[in-house]
Amino acid sequence: MYKIFFQLVFRRMDPEAAHHLAFRWIRLAARIPVLRTFVAAALAPRYKELRTEAFGLRMHGPFGLAAGFDKNAVAIDGMSMLGFDHVEIGTVTGEAQPGNPRKRMFRLVADRALINRMGFNNDGSLAVAARLATREAVFRTVVGVNIGKTKVVPEAEAVGDYVKSAERLAPYADYLVVNVSSPNTPGLRSLQAVDQLRPLLTAVREAADRVAANRRVPLLVKIAPDLADEDVDAVADLAVELGLDGIIATNTTIARDELGLRSDPALVQETGGLSGAPLKARSLEVLRRLYARVGDRITLVGVGGIENAEDAWQRILAGATLVQGYSAFVYEGPFYARALHKGLAARLRTSPYATLADAVGADVRKTV
Ligand SMILES: Cc1cc2nc3c(=O)[nH]c(=O)nc-3n(C[C@H](O)[C@H](O)[C@H](O)COP(=O)(O)O)c2cc1C
Repeated sequence: MYKIFFQLVFRRMDPEAAHHLAFRWIRLAARIPVLRTFVAAALAPRYKELRTEAFGLRMHGPFGLAAGFDKNAVAIDGMSMLGFDHVEIGTVTGEAQPGNPRKRMFRLVADRALINRMGFNNDGSLAVAARLATREAVFRTVVGVNIGKTKVVPEAEAVGDYVKSAERLAPYADYLVVNVSSPNTPGLRSLQAVDQLRPLLTAVREAADRVAANRRVPLLVKIAPDLADEDVDAVADLAVELGLDGIIATNTTIARDELGLRSDPALVQETGGLSGAPLKARSLEVLRRLYARVGDRITLVGVGGIENAEDAWQRILAGATLVQGYSAFVYEGPFYARALHKGLAARLRTSPYATLADAVGADVRKTV
């Protein structure tokens, strides 16, 4: 039914307008208790065997909503109602900003992909922190907070901007993510170089510890799929050295030609980050490489082209404790998480592993 609806309604709309419309419906449904309970019962059934623990946090399952969908923390309960076991809000920047001019989101339907150059449109760390502080949660969902650099802040002052966000948001974050991998903020991805990343992560760690003194907020870094293999290794080593809690692999890609895309070439050449099915292979490869390097010392989060339970299962076998999705939600609709959970539980039952945790990294351990 969703696929017919998508063809008839969403596909004819500007992708960003369709996003806002769907988002409004989700938020509305989550505000009506009877509807919310009904939808959650239908779309978010719990499977005991999928219970997951990551960096000390307990979740109903491993599957969460990737950053960028709920940038301003306005629909956490709504997304939880749709079956996401954790919701990563953001990217939130130090200051509020409008993002890039529209049109800035494109659907590559034939490739089940998206290109976006949103440019971190968000309400800023002060407003989002105030929203989280006064939020009355209906569902007990793990909330990750993803932070990035304000566009107008010079690169030399990036650390201060991240620290400002961390100080404001860490008290409300179940985990905190330093995003250095979006392609749509000039210079952001150069922060992935170890000599820049070390002081940044150290300062954010200290800021989080300062403001959330009675609790150690798990700290993760989110990386790009476009890093060279040696740079992936260097980030992995740095994460171990700094005692980071996790690495999220991956953000969107700036690659195009080598992906064999079938959509209209004019669309394919739009500037921005590509996500969805064509990203699958590289995201999996980066994850596998990370796991081979860090093993169980650091929790890995797999994201990029996860469309179904099989994709999620492959990420888990490659080393992911958690998995996330965004683009496939646009194409699959409200049953995305439900189908993924059901399939994942079935996959685990027929596997040689007693628990999901046993399956994490099993494929990589076999080959090392
Ligand atoms: C429209 C759009 C906006 C995004 N915004 C952000 C963002 O603000 N911060 C971030 O870390 N990732 C952002 N992402 C990247 C996703 O979180 C995810 O890493 C990427 O899309 C790969 O997953 P997918 O193939 O399931 O979409 C965005 C992705 C899309 C499609």
